[in-house]
Amino acid sequence: MTQHQLNEERTSMTRLFLTIILLCGSLIGSATIVLAEEPHAHHQGITLSPALRDVLRAEMREITTGIQNIAVAMATADWKAIQDHSEKVRVSYVMEKKLTPEQAKELEHTLPERFKQLDAEFHQRAAKLGVAASAHDAELVTFHYSRLLESCVQCHTAYARSRFPGFAPVMQDHHH
Ligand code: HEC
Repeated sequence: MTQHQLNEERTSMTRLFLTIILLCGSLIGSATIVLAEEPHAHHQGITLSPALRDVLRAEMREITTGIQNIAVAMATADWKAIQDHSEKVRVSYVMEKKLTPEQAKELEHTLPERFKQLDAEFHQRAAKLGVAASAHDAELVTFHYSRLLESCVQCHTAYARSRFPGFAPVMQDHHH
């Protein structure tokens, strides 16, 4: 082997090595995401009194209407409607309305921190959607809309699996 060939060999080995490192890096990256999602998988739901459950369900039906209206408003570039519906979704905060003081207390004690966090995030995303709509920024509106839908999915995956069995993982794990 000539010196030139040797050098070329080394360069391609280095390239291969770098590619492997990059590949491993992205694999570890996605593994981390999967692991980070894992803890929610163990929640099966939240236990609320029947009255509170009704309030939550009513709120869910309200935001469902809101999210459907937003989709149509987006398709028709009706910025004002997007803003109005986002605002309705944003303020439909289950912890802030239609609750007796006892129920508010119950909610505060019953809901896990993670649920509250997801809920807060959800309302922030609705607010951002409204801001994007006021700027007539279709691309940003679409982005925040998908983030909003992602919030529905995240919370339901973690806390409404018995209500929506479709969220159950395809692979059943047998470690209990
Ligand atoms: C922070 C948590 C959380 C977020 C965010 C959330 N949900 Fe829910 N949702 C729940 C829980 C918990 C239930 C199950 C209540 C029950 O046990 O029946 C539920 C139930 C529902 C129901 C069933 C209501 C009924 O009448 O039984 C619908 C529809 C629904 N959600 C739609 C949505 C949509 C659409 C979004 C997003 C735009 C969303 N939810 C975001 C927690 C959430």
